[in-house]
Amino acid sequence: MNTDNRENFGSRFAVIMAMAGSAIGLGNIWRFPYIVGEMGGGAFVLIYVLATLLISAPLFMTEAIIGRRSKLSAANAMYALSKRKKFWKGVGLVLVASPLIILSYYSVVGGWAVDFLIKSLNFTFSSETPDHVSTLFGGLISSTWRPIIAHLFFMGTTAVVVSMGVKSGIEKFNKFTVPVLFGMIIFIMIYSLFLPGSDAGVKYLLKFDASSLTPKTLAYALGQSFYSLSLGMGTIITYGSYIRKQENLLTSGITVAVSDLMFAILAAFAIMPAVFAAGLEPGAGPGLIFQTIPYIFSTMSTELPVISDIIAIVFFLAIFVAALTSSVSLMEVGAAYIVENTGMSRKKATTILFVILGTIGTLCSLSFGPLADFQIAGKGLFDLMDWFSSNVVLILASLLATVFAGWFMRRESFTDEFSSGGKYSLNKKIGPVLHIIIKYAAPLAIFAIFITNFIL
Ligand code: PHE
Repeated sequence: MNTDNRENFGSRFAVIMAMAGSAIGLGNIWRFPYIVGEMGGGAFVLIYVLATLLISAPLFMTEAIIGRRSKLSAANAMYALSKRKKFWKGVGLVLVASPLIILSYYSVVGGWAVDFLIKSLNFTFSSETPDHVSTLFGGLISSTWRPIIAHLFFMGTTAVVVSMGVKSGIEKFNKFTVPVLFGMIIFIMIYSLFLPGSDAGVKYLLKFDASSLTPKTLAYALGQSFYSLSLGMGTIITYGSYIRKQENLLTSGITVAVSDLMFAILAAFAIMPAVFAAGLEPGAGPGLIFQTIPYIFSTMSTELPVISDIIAIVFFLAIFVAALTSSVSLMEVGAAYIVENTGMSRKKATTILFVILGTIGTLCSLSFGPLADFQIAGKGLFDLMDWFSSNVVLILASLLATVFAGWFMRRESFTDEFSSGGKYSLNKKIGPVLHIIIKYAAPLAIFAIFITNFIL
């Protein structure tokens, strides 16, 4: 494997935007608000912030260290650093397979966002009654062709960006889209906070209800923060391999973790106040952004005709773009692996991935309609893949990555890479602390979530 002429991200800004683009996605805008709603508001948010800063951010930096040290994609990185021990080759293969599984169904949700974006451009929400609007989501996912075409469009767009390469595809795309995403979510949040009755939503997000602090909440908070920071999927290892030696992994890591955290909180403040202003339930589950929110757009359209149409368009555009920047990072893990191991061109590799993942995603999409009766352990294909990849693979792979960095990688290599060969003095001081967290605290915490998820 030749690592000398590996492409790199061109600047510090590019590194941060690419990694933030991977982190900020459906996890922030779709999952986080509805989990906050289900888990009881403010107390969950507080635990989430602590989990992100104390465990997930260190793990994020560790994945970047593994990637940059090896200059290889997730499949080969640990194998190469462990002096080619077979076990780590197996772990590497899991790290290629799991993002591709996530991508297959992630793209289906991305497709729903495309469909709702089209609906908002056609002013569907303002021209139909609220009751009708809240049935649109059920109608879309249970039909056959519409969601499949939308999913293939989403997957195709992802493949095009990845096929253009690290610098001219991924870097250029994220440098433009991530700042725009922040602008969009802030715009929606300001609007939402001005709605009459929105203060109940703000109170909900800020209230501290100690009774919602259970082991289950803790496990959910940590699991969600892993998902949101794209951990355990090989994406940060792979992106890490494109970071130049002179970049500071501490400051970039913290900046990405804080941006991701901020985006999730902004999204919650954009969504919950509107939900409360409309007098609706916060715990609507996964349908929150595709059912509850369109319902709100429809009810608002009589009082605020034009602005509610504009907000609806910006909202679904934001979801589409956020999902796309993450799906690009997921596909890159597979593309880098194929290119590294076979020497095939990027274009060919992405075409192959498009065909395979497009097909698996199509089956996931059909699991809401014609294939609804095909179930394993009481779950349709989509639910099964979501559950398996985010509750099992992601947690297990994160555990293995921490064990690798803490116990199998030489401590000197770990701290040397973290400080860019001694270039950054603060990193030199923090490196040993980071190493202790990764060696002891992080594996214990992850193991605890894993157990909690299965027993409780
Ligand atoms: N972090 C992304 C999100 O919040 C999802 C993701 C997970 C992306 C794992 C890449 C790897 O939506």
